[in-house]
Amino acid sequence: MTGRGEGHGKLILCGEHAVVYGHPAIAIAVDRTTRVTLSRRDGATEVRSPHVDDRVRDALCTVVPEQGFAVEVETDLPVRRGMGSSAALAVAVVRARADLAGETIAADEVVHRAMPIERSFHGSPSGVDVAVSAHGGCLWFKRGDPAVHRSLPSPALPIVVLDSGEDRETARMVQRVAERRADHAPALDAIGALVERASACLDDPETLGPLLLENHALLRSIGVSTGRLDAMVSLAMEHGAHGAKLAGAGGGGVVMALIEDPESLLAAARARNIHAFTCSVWHAG
Ligand code: MEV
Repeated sequence: MTGRGEGHGKLILCGEHAVVYGHPAIAIAVDRTTRVTLSRRDGATEVRSPHVDDRVRDALCTVVPEQGFAVEVETDLPVRRGMGSSAALAVAVVRARADLAGETIAADEVVHRAMPIERSFHGSPSGVDVAVSAHGGCLWFKRGDPAVHRSLPSPALPIVVLDSGEDRETARMVQRVAERRADHAPALDAIGALVERASACLDDPETLGPLLLENHALLRSIGVSTGRLDAMVSLAMEHGAHGAKLAGAGGGGVVMALIEDPESLLAAARARNIHAFTCSVWHAG
């Protein structure tokens, strides 16, 4: 008997870091996934994953007993790049465990069970990554007990992701911002206000694009961008993007660009040895 589960990656359109402090964020689930297959085996639980380390093993063991299982993980998400690979893994393993038990669980229950796994990766995450991975679509999200979320219309344009090739550590970046929270409060408030403006123009790339750029500038002002991320944002704008920003915790990871015709940007990225690809929004059901 086997159980199978899937979790989707995400991109934060607007609001990372500020969401940790109770401001809203808008995130989309993307059409790239992590898949987990669970089966029974004799002896200690064995994890087969392209990115297995102690953290992944510990995280999986919050859901899978230490004895008696084979856990197979496959992913087409870049790992440690701000695309929600840990949340996708958490959602996938929760769904695989439920599938093995013959249980059907709603997205809110998936979130409830996946959050302890996400915490084992990131300490005290806002929960936006897990929420959007489980629910799909485009989500307005606000941290809380319980967190609040609602579905929004998805941006109509193609999204190009540019990968800096630099790993980043979410918990460390969140900690860095926290250490200077008082200094960063005006920028974090401004990001929160930007999210509300963005939620009103998701179907209008010409208005939304400049808001993404503003969001990037605010993230840079709190010290989470890098020279390489700034250069990739400029490259996207030179090649016709309506807007671009770093996505996720920063300090490395990816840039996302909203762009009518991705070809010229993809070619420019290839010419600079930047791994780039298009993404679309994934909707559940
Ligand atoms: C999440 O991908 C990025 C941060 O906002 C952290 C969080 O929400 O927990 C930086």
